[in-house]
Amino acid sequence: MRNVTFRPYCSSDNQACTRIFDANCPEFFAPNEREEYQEFLECASEGYEVCEVDGEVLGAFGLFGDGRKGKTLNWILLDVQSHGMGVGSKIMKRVIHSAGRSEAKRVSIAASQKSEPFFAKFGAISTSTTTDGWGPGMHRIDMVLPL
Ligand SMILES: CC(C)(COP(=O)(O)OP(=O)(O)OC[C@H]1O[C@@H](n2cnc3c(N)ncnc32)[C@H](O)[C@@H]1OP(=O)(O)O)[C@@H](O)C(=O)NCCC(=O)NCCS
Repeated sequence: MRNVTFRPYCSSDNQACTRIFDANCPEFFAPNEREEYQEFLECASEGYEVCEVDGEVLGAFGLFGDGRKGKTLNWILLDVQSHGMGVGSKIMKRVIHSAGRSEAKRVSIAASQKSEPFFAKFGAISTSTTTDGWGPGMHRIDMVLPL
């Protein structure tokens, strides 16, 4: 795999992130989540990062929370061309390393039935399921990754 680097999200990444969201919709995101993602990007705070390969934004993810109540992993997504190439694993290593340096004892993840098996590979445990929680046919699976 080519060299993957990370840097903080900035407003000029909006287009690339939106394109990546669109490419993953409706397979991995419900269409009604697009507006929520746009709102999130418009005020994306410190903690949201993009991953790049050769200067091209391939994906993004965010780790939020001050650590005392645990961390939250939000809006992790990769360009469909990059699925299954180990980039998501690199992100999870970064997430676990970064959260582990805080007081946090766990990372909360609001997944779907499509992404649950991926997070489970890193030790995340499902705690609840909300049928159609993200939209019709896209169930919300709340997970906790103990650190
Ligand atoms: C989920 C996602 C981040 C995973 O990243 P990735 O780079 O494809 O994952 P990797 O290549 O590092 O895969 C690591 C392992 O997880 C498995 N895996 C990855 N995605 C999976 C999925 N959706 N379902 C089941 N297994 C999956 C891989 O097969 C691999 O297994 P192995 O170690 O046995 O070979 C990426 O596929 C993605 O962006 N999906 C669409 C957006 C999404 O669903 N985000 C989650 C929102 S909560």
